[in-house]
Amino acid sequence: MKVLGIFGSPRRGGNTEILLEEALKGTEKEGAKVDRLYLSDFTLTPCKECHGCDRTGNCVILDDMQKIYPRLLESDVVILASPIFFYGVTAWAKALIDRSQAFWARKYLLKDPSLGKEGKKRKGFFISVGATKGARVFEGAVLTVKYFFDVLNAEYVGELVFRGVEAKGDILKHPEALQQAFEAGKRLVSDLKKSGGEEQRG
Ligand SMILES: Cc1cc2nc3c(=O)[nH]c(=O)nc-3n(C[C@H](O)[C@H](O)[C@H](O)COP(=O)(O)O)c2cc1C
Repeated sequence: MKVLGIFGSPRRGGNTEILLEEALKGTEKEGAKVDRLYLSDFTLTPCKECHGCDRTGNCVILDDMQKIYPRLLESDVVILASPIFFYGVTAWAKALIDRSQAFWARKYLLKDPSLGKEGKKRKGFFISVGATKGARVFEGAVLTVKYFFDVLNAEYVGELVFRGVEAKGDILKHPEALQQAFEAGKRLVSDLKKSGGEEQRG
């Protein structure tokens, strides 16, 4: 079973990185093979809305995203971690999500069976933190991530979010946070194993 961990913050060693790393360790504990994707190491051009992918399902922009598409498709579980930037995900994560319009075209315009009901069923999980404590701080990001997971045929199975987390390492002041992330990672893989998802796909 392959787990793709997408690190959406440009701050290395920051709060979402710490949480995602714990979650990935949890998946490894259950025997998963982990692929770590640090988005800020890549050059990702925003979607140009040229609609080139409408006809082919492929993006015409030949940048680092071309290396990321196959990694997304190879995954059984996707865990996306992004802090809240202006009530949404970071520009790094949003660039990746918008460039996944190529998958939207495959799925909904070109009816590619590999992203339809007969295709590989993935699981998706979201990790986030925000500095503020507002009740609605994660709402925008959660919606965006739900629709991102949909184009990947990934069921949105949940999220782990923490408010009031600002400075680098602040997450360590939440004593239970790391354990929760580790357990969430373990659960993602064990649930998928129980549902027989991996075996059905051979
Ligand atoms: C450009 C920018 C925009 C931000 N916007 C918000 C925001 O709208 N709401 C919020 O609660 N925190 C906001 N923050 C704070 C970050 O979410 C917070 O510092 C978080 O802990 C960073 O996580 P990281 O260490 O994983 O990068 C913003 C930070 C930056 C740099």
